[in-house]
Amino acid sequence: MVKSLLIAGLLATGLEACQRKRTFNHHDGKAKRTLTPRAPLSADESLIISSFDANSIDDWSYYYTHGLHLAGTNRSQAQWTADRWSEAGFNTRLDTYNVFLDYPINKSMVMTYGNGSVYRPSLEEDVLPEDPTTGYPNRTPTFHGYSASGAASGKLVYVGLGQQDDFQRLIDLGVPLEGNIAIARYGGPFRGLKVKNSQAHGMLGCIIFTDPDDDGNITVANGYAAYPDGPARNPTSVQRGSVQFLSTYPGDPTTPGYPSIDNPVRADRSSVVPQIPSIPLSYQDAQPILQAMDGFGTPGKQVGRENWVGALNASYSTGPSDATIDMSNYMRDTYTDLWNAIGVINGTNADETIVIGNHRDAWIVGGAADPNSGTAIIVELGKVMGRLMQNGWQPKRNIVLCSWDGEEYGLVGSTEWVEQYIPWLTGTAMTYLNIDVGASGPHPSISATPELHQVAVEQMHKVMWESLRGNRTMYDVWLEDTEGEVGVLGSGSDYTAFLHKGMASMDMGSDGDVDAGDPIYHYHSNYDSYHWMANFGDPGFLTHKNMGQYLGLVAYHLISEEFVPLHPLNYATQMDLYYQDLRDVIGNASQDVDTSELRDAIDTFRSQAEQAQALVQQAMSSGDADLTKVVNDKYRDFQRGFTSQGGLPNREFYQHVVFAPGLDTGYAPVTFPGITESVEAGNFTLAEDWVGRTSRAIRVAGNILKT
Ligand SMILES: *[C@@H]1O[C@H](CO)[C@@H](O)[C@H](O)[C@H]1NC(C)=O
Ligand SMILES: *[C@@H]1O[C@H](CO)[C@@H](O)[C@H](O)[C@H]1NC(C)=O
Ligand SMILES: *[C@@H]1O[C@H](CO)[C@@H](O)[C@H](O)[C@H]1NC(C)=O
Ligand SMILES: *[C@@H]1O[C@H](CO)[C@@H](O)[C@H](O)[C@H]1NC(C)=O
Ligand SMILES: *[C@@H]1O[C@H](CO)[C@@H](O)[C@H](O)[C@H]1NC(C)=O
Ligand SMILES: *[C@@H]1O[C@H](CO)[C@@H](O)[C@H](O)[C@H]1NC(C)=O
Ligand SMILES: *[C@@H]1O[C@H](CO)[C@@H](O)[C@H](O)[C@H]1NC(C)=O
Ligand SMILES: *[C@@H]1O[C@H](CO)[C@@H](O)[C@H](O)[C@H]1NC(C)=O
Ligand SMILES: *[C@@H]1O[C@H](CO)[C@@H](O)[C@H](O)[C@H]1NC(C)=O
Ligand SMILES: [Zn+2]
Repeated sequence: MVKSLLIAGLLATGLEACQRKRTFNHHDGKAKRTLTPRAPLSADESLIISSFDANSIDDWSYYYTHGLHLAGTNRSQAQWTADRWSEAGFNTRLDTYNVFLDYPINKSMVMTYGNGSVYRPSLEEDVLPEDPTTGYPNRTPTFHGYSASGAASGKLVYVGLGQQDDFQRLIDLGVPLEGNIAIARYGGPFRGLKVKNSQAHGMLGCIIFTDPDDDGNITVANGYAAYPDGPARNPTSVQRGSVQFLSTYPGDPTTPGYPSIDNPVRADRSSVVPQIPSIPLSYQDAQPILQAMDGFGTPGKQVGRENWVGALNASYSTGPSDATIDMSNYMRDTYTDLWNAIGVINGTNADETIVIGNHRDAWIVGGAADPNSGTAIIVELGKVMGRLMQNGWQPKRNIVLCSWDGEEYGLVGSTEWVEQYIPWLTGTAMTYLNIDVGASGPHPSISATPELHQVAVEQMHKVMWESLRGNRTMYDVWLEDTEGEVGVLGSGSDYTAFLHKGMASMDMGSDGDVDAGDPIYHYHSNYDSYHWMANFGDPGFLTHKNMGQYLGLVAYHLISEEFVPLHPLNYATQMDLYYQDLRDVIGNASQDVDTSELRDAIDTFRSQAEQAQALVQQAMSSGDADLTKVVNDKYRDFQRGFTSQGGLPNREFYQHVVFAPGLDTGYAPVTFPGITESVEAGNFTLAEDWVGRTSRAIRVAGNILKT
């Protein structure tokens, strides 16, 4: 049986960097617990391993997590980042973009019961004396980025995770949607799609709450103390986050397809950001609201949708309630500057570039996991590369370190940057490496395009994973957690713009596993703070250090090896698996779709990739420098073929024919998205068109590889 990477990828890894919610394998008793020795290290590799210093990473973490750095608010953090890279020997600059953002002004919510009593949720997170940054006077209130201003009143309808299928179920049950207020549970699809779907059904507002069901056994109800006293979720914790329609368009919503520089023409943004207000809630605030819906409409158990009923003391009934919600949300719309810090070292091969990035902006003053665990690591990485160069290392390829601003609102800083530098990137970029949540717990995970799998897995054998105290390599830990599956890229972090311009991309990070008893990570909450990280998330900053060593090794090999360590042949292997998945999807549909052209295109690609591999052997044994360049050029350029056929239906931005975020998931990936989503939508004419386009794109890629 084909073990589908798509399915396994969805189950085994969260794939969403800014939101990493994963299912781990190691409690079904089947996972292998291996103990392999660390692979031998070269002198440079030893220097990389020994140069990452947990104490200095701790210092960087402290710096970033003690000042407001919401998108577009903290230029000095950008400059500070550039200064650290300058000290390490990089040429640095700030790249500035003038983009549309909105910032919170005020909000309100009142529920009036049928009997006239009222309930007012607090809408804020508790200030904790133990955790100083939760009480900073300039802390950000709870809100949704890119949310609409306005007021709304109506009866409540519970919409589960808020996916299209959830709404369809409500329609089938006869629950009136139009004119009512949606209350949705966090989790599953990107939050903006919950608002999008509510709006599409004529609902007037959307409330999204965190459910303690996401926390497995680590709950207050189960006897665990809540943060700051213990590992359970603080009951007042609120998940902020963007409600842009991410699966349609990331980046500045007013400059689709072009950079926000030089007074750009501003496009109408109304199709990619919500038109109805939305407000996030803690589970403590949400419980009375759900309870007020008990006895109204169909009880959750009878709705029969997966993940419908959560862990609060309520029946998760559909409503509509007899209680009424009055809510308002006011935002200040503005065009404001974002600052990407950029650090560059020219390699000896001028037309070969490795880009490494992490975002810097956080919703909150803290952001110790998201994103500043990655920021602390990438600052340390600059330092380590400086040390390598002092030790005589001459990078073969250009290194570009990027500290993105505005990721949280919708990958804004990275998308605008790619849109600005696309000619140069198309000509030179070989790979983009992303690290967002570098550490929110002790379990590593990686997702990558297929040609990167081999180098990504090889380097894991060289890192000892210290936080789990088993004296095991990162590879052993990762293998046990994931059964060795490299995740498939969807969206949710800054690799997205690179991937959809045809650049090999990788995303890496580390997370907690609630089933293994790891502390709950307070995603996009004030409690994602330095105090949480130092006491619960990564005491001693060991996971930070080990992830840094890993990123350092992967980057080093991509930068230094004579033949860039990409393996296009694995694209054929992975596409065979995706092809099986596609046939399964078509097998479920009401009508067949002829995919023989795609089958042929993949088979031809395989033989062309084999030719390229043979050329590598030939270049290696001959030592012919011209032939080496031919191979490296092919390996750099073939990826562009996958994005050569225009954008996906109704979302021009997403151009990769093999991977895309699901239209109704936003984070999680769909493979062969043009075909798969057309079949799922029952549009077989469009599906056939996309069999053609997908096949042509694969042929363009293969023709670049062939000799
Ligand atoms: C840890 O493993 C390495 C080999 O990977 C071995 O050399 C070392 O002795 C081990 N240390 C402990 C404390 O077991
Ligand atoms: C920017 O961040 C730094 C470091 O976290 C902090 O010291 C400073 O106060 C912040 N600036 C503003 C304007 O909030
Ligand atoms: C909230 O802000 C809006 C827009 O600035 C303003 O009209 C309204 O009066 C404010 N409401 C409260 C309660 O402050
Ligand atoms: C109204 O109903 C709510 C929920 O059932 C209850 O908590 C509250 O005490 C009631 N108020 C009055 C005045 O009866
Ligand atoms: C759940 O709610 C019901 C009804 O309001 C109440 O009787 C019960 O004690 C609650 N259970 C828990 C565990 O809080
Ligand atoms: C790096 O290369 C670029 C273009 O290839 C060139 O413009 C720039 O001056 C170089 N920088 C340094 C410091 O050599
Ligand atoms: C979670 O708790 C339940 C009951 O409290 C128990 O049966 C189960 O084994 C626990 N799971 C883990 C992974 O500890
Ligand atoms: C096919 O349909 C069945 C039944 O609805 C479902 O369980 C299965 O996941 C579907 N498979 C695919 C590949 O869509
Ligand atoms: C299929 O998609 C095409 C392109 O978006 C559209 O023009 C056509 O109306 C769709 N057909 C059906 C049956 O939905
Ligand atoms: Zn993030």
